Amino acid sequence: MFHLGWFTNYMPPAWNKPWAGDAGRSWANGDFYLDMARQLDRAGFDFMMLEDSTALPDTYGGTFEAELRQMVRAPKHDPVPLVPLLAHVTRGLGIVATCSTSFYPPYLLARMMSTLDHLTNGRAGWNVVTSAGSAAAQNFGMEDLPPHDERYAIAEEFATLVEQLWDSWEPDALLVDHDTNTYIDHEKVHRVDFRGKYFASRGPLNTLPGPQGRPVMLQAGGSPVGRAFAARHADAIVAIPKGIDAMKTYRADISRLAADAGRDPSAVKVFSIVSPIVAETHDEAVARKERLYAQESERLEKRLLLMSGGDLDLSRFPLDEPLPAIAAASSNGSQSILQTFLDRARGKTLREAAVADQTESLELVGTPDAVATQMGEVMAEVGGDGFLIYSGSGQLTRRYVTEICDGLVPELQRRGLTRDRYEHRLLRDNLLAF
Ligand SMILES: Cc1cc2nc3c(=O)[nH]c(=O)nc-3n(C[C@H](O)[C@H](O)[C@H](O)COP(=O)(O)O)c2cc1C
Repeated sequence: MFHLGWFTNYMPPAWNKPWAGDAGRSWANGDFYLDMARQLDRAGFDFMMLEDSTALPDTYGGTFEAELRQMVRAPKHDPVPLVPLLAHVTRGLGIVATCSTSFYPPYLLARMMSTLDHLTNGRAGWNVVTSAGSAAAQNFGMEDLPPHDERYAIAEEFATLVEQLWDSWEPDALLVDHDTNTYIDHEKVHRVDFRGKYFASRGPLNTLPGPQGRPVMLQAGGSPVGRAFAARHADAIVAIPKGIDAMKTYRADISRLAADAGRDPSAVKVFSIVSPIVAETHDEAVARKERLYAQESERLEKRLLLMSGGDLDLSRFPLDEPLPAIAAASSNGSQSILQTFLDRARGKTLREAAVADQTESLELVGTPDAVATQMGEVMAEVGGDGFLIYSGSGQLTRRYVTEICDGLVPELQRRGLTRDRYEHRLLRDNLLAF
């Protein structure tokens, strides 16, 4: 068996595509995502993961124009308030919100996640990111973000402190003892007295420990420091290794790093991103994929905008020439994502590289039956843990969610590849169930 997650965010879903309905105007009240969460819950997904960033950059061409016209990074709403709403309409689905170690104070983050763990009955998760881009830093009073590797050093201290705060109450501290008139056993609540290079906190938390104790942690760091951080702290890692060999290598790398950190490698699950296109017939699925690629000018600009995230402006380069050598390490953004793009752009013009670029680990196109078989074979070969479904930027519709949840997933379940009911109540237990 393998696991399923879904990667999305609290932004407008598809608004200018067939079957988008009125979601382009009505998404902000959350209904679209509530409908989606119910579907994922019914299909037995481990979690719905809400991506986030906190700035509207003008990196691309020095203006907000293309960012806003194409709706790439805005409007984007805060995922955290959506978490309890999604939990309220679901029974087993984990709900994961992204929060940045560059902007939250650790105490507030620990307290908020502990509260969310109660409000979700133990299904809350935190996607730990360090953020990218000076625009985000400037929204929080900094000129720029610290350099890439230092951001991970800060994140390391942040995560360590947050874990200590979550552990500052022993699980059985709550007594509610009418005989002795004692609500909480004070001997089971401890100061933390953390003093690091970047953070200090006295502790303890002033919340009751959540059902999971420590809410689940997700991470997507792909650089060497990012992977090492993830292997030390994450319950699940989401990644975009390109192709089966890269998926295998990624899994092996995380296993090694987790073992180095004294953890059981099988307790760190690795999810690879895919955007399956399923239809009644193989030809129809292929035609749909071709229609997607036929929207070349929209795709091209979107990919360039997405890759221009970390202060690199790809609008400066001629489209029909190869990219000059740019070192990803000189970018202060998501280095490993940029490096993969640059590696794959070698020998191509910028236009060719951008149009061919995809946020997915492998292509899945066909009938639900064929795609389910392929997913099973890939997981068996990779020895990995699961897939993270992603609709593709600006392509999310209710129809797409239905095709996956009511078309593809039943085929996976019929083969015994994914769960047909939740084994446990808590997100972490479901992640560890197989
Ligand atoms: C599936 C996935 C989801 C991600 N979600 C976010 C996010 O919500 N916010 C964010 O700032 N970065 C996000 N990132 C970027 C990662 O946190 C990370 O910066 C990136 O994978 C590059 O790794 P590196 O930081 O180790 O270079 C995501 C990356 C992936 C692959």
